[in-house]
Amino acid sequence: MPPYLAGRHQEYEEFGRLLKQTTILENMVLTGLRGVGKTVLLDTLKPRAMQQGWLWAGTDMSESAMVSEETMALRLLADLTVITSSLTVEYPAPQRVGFSVPQEPIQVRLSYDVLVSIFTSTPGLVVDKLKAVLEFAWQHLQAQERRRVIFAYDEAQNLSDNATKEQFPLSVLLDVFQSIQKKGIPFMLLLTGLPTLFPKLVEARTFAERMFRVVTIGRLSDDESKEAIAVPIKRDRCPVSFSTESVNIICQESAGYPYFIQFICREVFDVFIQQAGTGEPMGVPIDAIQRKLDADFFAGRWARVPDRQRELLWVISNVEHAEEEFTIQELVARAKELLIKGFSPSHANQMLVRLADQGLIYKNRLGKYSFAVPLLGSFIRRNYCPPTE
Ligand SMILES: Nc1ncnc2c1ncn2[C@@H]1O[C@H](COP(=O)(O)OP(=O)(O)O)[C@@H](O)[C@H]1O
Ligand SMILES: [Mg+2]
Repeated sequence: MPPYLAGRHQEYEEFGRLLKQTTILENMVLTGLRGVGKTVLLDTLKPRAMQQGWLWAGTDMSESAMVSEETMALRLLADLTVITSSLTVEYPAPQRVGFSVPQEPIQVRLSYDVLVSIFTSTPGLVVDKLKAVLEFAWQHLQAQERRRVIFAYDEAQNLSDNATKEQFPLSVLLDVFQSIQKKGIPFMLLLTGLPTLFPKLVEARTFAERMFRVVTIGRLSDDESKEAIAVPIKRDRCPVSFSTESVNIICQESAGYPYFIQFICREVFDVFIQQAGTGEPMGVPIDAIQRKLDADFFAGRWARVPDRQRELLWVISNVEHAEEEFTIQELVARAKELLIKGFSPSHANQMLVRLADQGLIYKNRLGKYSFAVPLLGSFIRRNYCPPTE
C-alpha cells in the first residue's frame, strides 16, 4: 500500500454506484496494465464496501490452483466460510421418515466442512453443486443485517477454461453468478486483472458483456502524480524534501505510472538521505535510477525475447503513439522504413500472438494492439539497436 494513494476519484464513484445495488445487475471488472495500481486500489475498496453494509470474501488467483472446476468451487467455498462461519444453522434439517419421535436437528456452525458436505452431497455438475451451496448460505444470511456479499478476485486473468481437459472453471463461475443474481441473491463479483481479463470473460460467456461494468485504470494525471510524491513527505514530517524541479523530473520519468513513481521515489529518497549530511547540492540522479529500473523491471522480460521479436518490438516502440495503441498496418509500414528486412502482415500477426503469450503485448477488443508492460517502448529505445546488415 502506498503511503498516499493518489487520484482514483472516478473509480471510487463508479464503485459507489455499484454498491447501491440491491439486486445485482452489474458486477465489476477493474483492469489495467501491470503496476498501475489495481491491487492496492482493490484493497481500499474493501473498507468502502463494508461501510456500506456489504460483506467481503475473496483472494487473489495468482496460484494455478484454479485449474479445475472443483478447485475453483472449493476456493470459493473457503472464501465464503470467512463470512458464514459465525452463523449457526440447523443441520441436517430434514427429518427421517418413519420415526414417531421427531429427531432434534443439530446446531452447527456454517463452517468450511459443512459447506463442502453440502457441495458433495448435491447431485449434478459442479455448477449445480456450487449454486446449491451459495443458495443455502444465502438462506441463512438473509436474516442478517449485513447480507450482501462481494466476491473479490485479484489477478483474475489467470482463470481459464481448458477445453482439452474438459475443465471450465471460468464459465462455471460466470454461470453460477448469473444464475444466483437472477434469483435476486445479492452476491456481486469484483474481478481485477490485466487488460486480457475482460475479453477472456466475454470469450467464455457472451453474456459477460452485459454482466460487468469495466473500469480501466491508467497512469495518474500530472497533479495526481505530484500528490503521490509530495503528500507523504509533507504529511509524515520527512527529514528531506523534494524541490519542485525534482518532483517534475520524477513525474516526467515515471510518466504517471504508479509503480515507477514509487520505484524512483524510493531511490531518490535514499540518495537524498545520504546527500543531506554532506552539504552537497541535492539532485535526482535520474540516469542511474533509470539504469537500475531497466535492470530490475525490464531486463528480465527482455532477456526472454528472441532476436527477430526484439526487432519487431523495437519497430513498435518507434511507431507514433505506440504507448497508447497501434495497428498491424502501422507496424508493417514503419518496419519497411526502419529495417532492411521488414515484416509481412501475416508474419507480424504471428509474432504478435507469440508476444501476447509472453505478456508483452495485448490485443484490445477493437483489434488494436498495445504494450502490456508500461513504458516498455522507452526502455527498448534506450537499450536496443537493430542489426544493421
Ligand atoms: N494511486 C496510487 N498512488 C500512489 N501509489 C500507487 C497508486 N497506485 C499504486 N501505487 C503503487 O504502485 C505500485 C504498484 O501497485 P499495484 O497495486 O501492485 O499494481 P498492479 O496490481 O496493478 O500491478 C505499488 O508500489 C503501489 O503502492
Ligand atoms: Mg496486482
